[in-house]
Amino acid sequence: MHTPARLQYLKIKKQHENELLLFRMGDFYETFDSDAELLSHELDIALTSREMGKGEKIPLAGFPYHSLETYLSKLISKGHHIAICEQTSDPATSKGIVSREVVRIVTPGTIIEESILDKKSNNYLVSIFEENNLFGLSYVDITTGEFATTQLNSSKIHSEISRLNPSEVLIQEKTVNNLDLSTFKTTEISKDYYSLPHSIEEIKNYFKIKSLEPFGCENLPLAIQASGSILKYVKRNRKNSIVPVTKLTTYSAENFMILDKQTSNNLEIFRGGRDNNQKHSLLSVLDSTKTPMGARMLKRWLGQPLLNIDQLEKRLDSVESLFQNTQIRSKSIQILNSISDIERIINNISIGNTNPREVFTLANSLEQCEKVQKEINKDQKIYQKLSWIMKKLSNNTKIINIIKSAISENPPLTLIDGSAIKKGFSIELDTLIEKSKQSKSYFSSLEKRERERTQIKSLKVGYNKVFGYYIEIRNANLEKTPENYIRRQTLVGAERFITNEMKTHESQILNIQENIVDLTNQIFHDLCVKITSVIEEILSTSNAISKLDTICSLSQVAIENQYIKPVLTKKNVLEINDGRHPVVEQIAPDKMFIPNNLNLSNSKDQLIILTGPNMSGKSTYIRQTGVITLLAQIGSFVPASSATIGLVDRIFTRVGLQDDLSLGQSTFMVEMLETASILNHATNKSLIILDEIGRGTSTYDGLAIAQSIAEFIHNNSKLGCRTLFATHYHELTELSKFLKRVANYTVDVSEKDGEIIFLHNIIKGTSNKSYGIHVAKLAGIPKQIIPRAYEILNELEQQTNFKNTDQKSKPEKQLPLITQNTIIKSKLNSIDINKITPIEAINELANLIKLSEKDNDV
Ligand SMILES: Nc1ncnc2c1ncn2[C@@H]1O[C@H](COP(=O)(O)OP(=O)(O)O)[C@@H](O)[C@H]1O
Ligand SMILES: [Mg+2]
Repeated sequence: MHTPARLQYLKIKKQHENELLLFRMGDFYETFDSDAELLSHELDIALTSREMGKGEKIPLAGFPYHSLETYLSKLISKGHHIAICEQTSDPATSKGIVSREVVRIVTPGTIIEESILDKKSNNYLVSIFEENNLFGLSYVDITTGEFATTQLNSSKIHSEISRLNPSEVLIQEKTVNNLDLSTFKTTEISKDYYSLPHSIEEIKNYFKIKSLEPFGCENLPLAIQASGSILKYVKRNRKNSIVPVTKLTTYSAENFMILDKQTSNNLEIFRGGRDNNQKHSLLSVLDSTKTPMGARMLKRWLGQPLLNIDQLEKRLDSVESLFQNTQIRSKSIQILNSISDIERIINNISIGNTNPREVFTLANSLEQCEKVQKEINKDQKIYQKLSWIMKKLSNNTKIINIIKSAISENPPLTLIDGSAIKKGFSIELDTLIEKSKQSKSYFSSLEKRERERTQIKSLKVGYNKVFGYYIEIRNANLEKTPENYIRRQTLVGAERFITNEMKTHESQILNIQENIVDLTNQIFHDLCVKITSVIEEILSTSNAISKLDTICSLSQVAIENQYIKPVLTKKNVLEINDGRHPVVEQIAPDKMFIPNNLNLSNSKDQLIILTGPNMSGKSTYIRQTGVITLLAQIGSFVPASSATIGLVDRIFTRVGLQDDLSLGQSTFMVEMLETASILNHATNKSLIILDEIGRGTSTYDGLAIAQSIAEFIHNNSKLGCRTLFATHYHELTELSKFLKRVANYTVDVSEKDGEIIFLHNIIKGTSNKSYGIHVAKLAGIPKQIIPRAYEILNELEQQTNFKNTDQKSKPEKQLPLITQNTIIKSKLNSIDINKITPIEAINELANLIKLSEKDNDV
């Protein structure tokens, strides 16, 4: 026999089999059965048991209700989904068992708890839907109200998901595609969520519109399906509370440069350094934003470089105008510093998850927005350059005044005593507060009055939660107790009394108190509704401020680090004078970073072969080129003395030597797969950065592949794009003799009295020594090894004098071009028939077919 509570639990649990169910019982959240085991394991709390029915002992684990946020954050970070079941009737008044209901399902993508959220990042929930290799993608951040959708083909979907770095990805259950989502937390949802007619209805109903045309997605069914599924999912999780989303934006990934994971990792955009954290990333150098929404905007700009010169010029001119006016820049930054997270606050207000202090902060922040607008307005030239941002700043004076007239200065976090509402705002409330004061003064003077009346000097008036106000008389004076005192409690040395008059006053106070709370709540609620009615204006202001903050940050960083404004062009060139690596220069000792020049163009020096000793700065040089190009394409100044950047459609990078052990593939296999992908996707407007290709295999194989890749990029009419190739194969420098647009660069090394000094100075030409042995010496390899190594090196050099000079004008004698066939063959060879799963096999096959199709194109 189950107890009624157990029956109730089982019924609710049945509807939440995929979630961990937190069952509110009094002051605790309890879990039972396997949920209890899981909870106790994950949170390291005691697992006990409780009898819930005759002879039935159920495993149980729980925690006090006020610790919810702490434990929630731990559970969420471990990827659990949690259903929170509350008591929905008052235990004091309900007959029989308290009614209970799940009020919220918390998942990584739908949290709103401030303590769990990262201020400087969006918390995206993404949903994807695939049909015939085309994807619909939709994402929402319910803490900022951003909701957007797009359609993309399979080659772009992964980098778009990576860019968003969502905390949860929704996918249709039981679907097979070759998208690797293993680094994300995915949630499988049923097919119904993606039904097209339902999705259309879902969106129309939600936004109360008749057609999807205003959102621009009416002809994008997959985008609609992804968006519909997200709305449905969020609504399910948030139960009846409102989802704070005001519009759906349709965007096109075509307008942005694809920044794939590989390139973003290799160029260390968001994370970098040995420990791969944010500290050593490009973002950390660029981020001197002052507001959370500014920090989020800068991140977005970095993840979505632009392809359009006009848009970029707008950003660059804005950065320049603030760069030139120190006074306005500094003052603006100072004002921005006092602006809070308007975007998240207004969303909190719209869902009723707020408090008086936060609302007051909103008013203050909006005031600061007006102030910064005035500051920028001081210089008409600057205002003009920034007008694309400034005109989006709405006039919020009215709402500021409303808030300021309603909420008192320094308001409390709660609404309990009415002090959150400014005096004079509501006569009714003021009267109640006055009455409450008067009633309370009856008690504050009671002690004095009663002492005089009874002549008991030690008589005391006190208050406790059980009896309310009482009068206490020590036993010695008990005979003086007046007639009208009613005994309430006996203590060791005293008795406690009340009087009828006291009771009357007390209930009056309680009454008034209740009225005060009700009225304060009403006033506050009305105020929140008023604020929510101008949510669009406030969001627009917040968006403008986030852009202004980003521009200010970019100009401040440019000043501090001596960056310059790049010249943008559509020509396929890259001319950089005195270019530096923005991150490496920060950590170079004594700021001794050696600047270097670069001159790349599709028509002349198109492919640079960069050779030089280990540790001389090759990787730094080729990566800085990528980073400078990227900076220019987000509208930032760049670390150089001058730079002409011909916009690139994508930056491809392949940096050798990382073992991708997690994938279980050999280094060389990964290297070849990534390289194949580059060769398949690059166009003649791309920038390709290859670092030590071919290292993962034997010398001759490696060399052969490296050379044929270089030839392929040079000769293929679809490519012929700007390429930097750092390599330790000196033999590759011979390529310049028979490939017209190949140029050799090397790192200058000064040799003095047998000592070698790396100057980190890139010059035209070739070096023929690798200085590997020299590096070994520097690293402290035992002394006797060094001369022997030189000896062996000499022998080897004599034996294997690999020279291409004899073949320079006979391309047919070159090493064979690497074809897809070679890759396909090596892929096939790497497959272990005994270990591959059917799904992996299908995916592999799909990849191979794609590769072979590419081969036919060439
Ligand atoms: N231009 C430069 N100026 C100063 N130091 C540099 C420069 N380029 C590289 N370095 C330093 O040399 C180290 C090795 O550079 P790296 O590019 O990794 O060399 P390589 O790829 O040739 O082995 C870097 O970590 C950096 O500290
Ligand atoms: Mg290197």
